[in-house]
Parts: sequence; structure tokens; C-alpha cells
Amino acid sequence: MNASSTLATEAAELSLRFAGRPPEELLAWAVERFGERVVLACSLGMEDVALVDLLSRVTKSPQVFVLDTGRLHEESYETLDSLRSRYGINIEVYFPDAAAVQNLMRTKGAYSFYESIENRKECCGVRKVEPLQRALAGRAAWITGMRREQAVTRGDLALVEVDPVNAGLLKFNPLAEWSLAQLEDYVKQRQVPLHPLHAKGYPSIGCAPCTRAIQTGEDIRAGRWWWESADTKECGLHVKK
Ligand code: ADX
Ligand code: SF4
Repeated sequence: MNASSTLATEAAELSLRFAGRPPEELLAWAVERFGERVVLACSLGMEDVALVDLLSRVTKSPQVFVLDTGRLHEESYETLDSLRSRYGINIEVYFPDAAAVQNLMRTKGAYSFYESIENRKECCGVRKVEPLQRALAGRAAWITGMRREQAVTRGDLALVEVDPVNAGLLKFNPLAEWSLAQLEDYVKQRQVPLHPLHAKGYPSIGCAPCTRAIQTGEDIRAGRWWWESADTKECGLHVKK
């Protein structure tokens, strides 16, 4: 068996083993196995602050990064600082490549993402996807806050998968099975610092110009890239095989 099929087998076995188990068990396994080579990708939304809390319960040195696209809400920075002080952790912040952003702004302006899906993916590529590659350099695995319930594109999300882009890296989605109600109960019970925009109708947190509040009854990701259809709403951080 080659290395990539061994990893795929391990991911499938772990997904089975931790199915229906509390997320902290999978996190504890990941930390035990990879130590500081496993890192949490934190958007500062509710799933990810819950994961900071969960991770802090299983390790004294949680590894956490935020991709600062340069277009985040002001409230995202407040949340970042709340997490720092509540958990006493350092959070690595990755910025886009300055020359790439300068080029994008010079050639396309500040709001090209509203014009076409290609332009939107180009901006996400410069501001999120390339910095993610740097954030993951030298890591063995990463953790995301994705949940199956969030989107049609995530309905079959595994608890553990091999990263389709960064071959050789495992990707943990410990909250894959959680409902929104379970997540809300957890953060309430643990008094986790929450992004202030959740209380203003933003269930999903992204970049300021690409995220809006939702109306009662709307899908929880309806406020993300609201001008696009639901099946294109992935920014390139989470590419499917
Ligand atoms: S996405 O379409 O922006 O990727 P979403 O906001 O639902 O989707 O985020 C899914 C997961 O991707 C988050 O739980 C987090 O792990 C990671 N993620 C998204 N945005 C960021 C960010 N700015 N910094 C770090 N991780 C992020
Ligand atoms: Fe650019 Fe919007 Fe993607 Fe943020 S979410 S990187 S502003 S297109």
C-alpha cells in the first residue's frame, strides 16, 4: 500500500471509530498523535470559537490560525482578542501576499467579486487560499469547523478525510455531526466568547463585503455570497475530491 492510500484508510477508520462520539475525543486523539503539528483554522465564527474551547480542554498549547483576508469585519478582530484573553493563547494571523493584493486592486478594483464567480474565486484565491497554503506548511493535519448541516456542499462531510489539495495532510472536521442547536448549547454552557455579529443575524461569518445578515427562515449560509447559487458557495479552502 502506498502512503496516500494508507492515509485514506486511516481517515476512513477514524471516521468510523469516532462517529457519534463527542468531538473532544477526536481532538484528543489528533493532539496525542500530532502534537503541535495539528492546527485549527479559525474563522472566528461560532463553530471555530467552540473548537478553540474544545481544543483548550485537551491541550495546553492549542495551535490556531486566522486567515486575515484584509476584508474582515471589525467584530472579527474583537473576537480574536476575546479568545486570546479568555484562553491565554497566541493566534497566528496569515495575511495575503501584498503584491498579489496590489495587483488585484490595480487591475480589478475593490469589488470585483460581485461581477462574476470567476472574479469571486480569484479574490478568495489571493486572500484565502494562497495564505492557507502557508498556514499549513510543515503541518501534519488541520482542523475545521465545518458541519454537514451547513450546506448542500457539505452533506456528506467526513469526520476525518485526507486533504484533497494538500496531499499528505489529514483534515479533521470534529463538528461534522453537530446540529446548530448542539453547537449553540455548547457555547452557551461553556460561556465561549462569541462573534458579536451572531446576535445581529449573521450565523455564518466571512468577509464583510461578502456576508450579510439573514432573515428568519433563510438558510444559515444564505448571507454568504448571497448573489451566487447555493451549490457554488465554497471559497476554495475546502475543495472536494
Ligand atoms: S468558507 O466557505 O469560508 O470556507 P466557512 O466560513 O463555513 O466556509 O468556514 C468553514 C471552515 O473553514 C471554518 O470552520 C474554518 O475552519 C475555516 N475557515 C474559514 N474562513 C477562515 C478564516 N478566515 N481563517 C481561518 N479559517 C477559516
Ligand atoms: Fe474576497 Fe469576498 Fe472571498 Fe473575502 S469572501 S476573499 S472579500 S471574494
